[in-house]
Amino acid sequence: MTTPLPIGVLLSGSGTNLQAIIDAIARGELAAAIKVVISNRADAYGLVRARQHGLPTVVVPHKDFPTREAFEAELIRILQAHHVELVVLAGFMRLLSPVFIRAFRQRIMNIHPALLPAFPGTHAQRQALERGVRIAGATVHFVDEEMDHGPIIVQAAVPVYPDDTEETLSTRILAQEHRIYAQAIQLYAEGRLQIDKQKVIVLDERQSPNLALRSPTSA
Ligand code: GAR
Repeated sequence: MTTPLPIGVLLSGSGTNLQAIIDAIARGELAAAIKVVISNRADAYGLVRARQHGLPTVVVPHKDFPTREAFEAELIRILQAHHVELVVLAGFMRLLSPVFIRAFRQRIMNIHPALLPAFPGTHAQRQALERGVRIAGATVHFVDEEMDHGPIIVQAAVPVYPDDTEETLSTRILAQEHRIYAQAIQLYAEGRLQIDKQKVIVLDERQSPNLALRSPTSA
């Protein structure tokens, strides 16, 4: 058996994506090991989930640091001390500066509740409803210097219904997030992601028919 991919998870909130990653590892679908879970908020429920599974947790309150760079230097120190190869942003609500991006170039993934490049930023689901799109979804991507931006790894689409609220749409998207984040990390663990300028090439993509699309009628 190959060594599991050492990952570090950064979060700020409820941590359902962390939970999905923990569950995928437990089911043997994801060959990764969570070395550390870091939150910038002490009250993030994701920390409770991590502790319930015996995972090391660290709280790094961004407000305790005079600058973004000082905050990020501490994040980098902790991730490196845990020998993290891939940084997984799972609802981490702080914009990362080029200093952090450079420290883990092409080794940071993010999940966003929209079909990027549409609707980056906060309240993506609300933005989608306001614009009346018929199809929404989720994106896992490598992180570059811009917010919710960078080479796209996996996307999943869901339908938008006329009576959707931000909550019902978010719930539908979240179910897909939980499916595709583990998939994207597993592709990385298998060494199947190649970055070509702004694009990700998935090696042997035909081996993974489930990768990209959910039919909107069946989601
Ligand atoms: C998820 O919907 C994730 O896509 C979103 O935060 C939520 C975290 O949920 N991330 C972003 O909007 C990033 N711009 P979780 O804490 O339950 O995993």
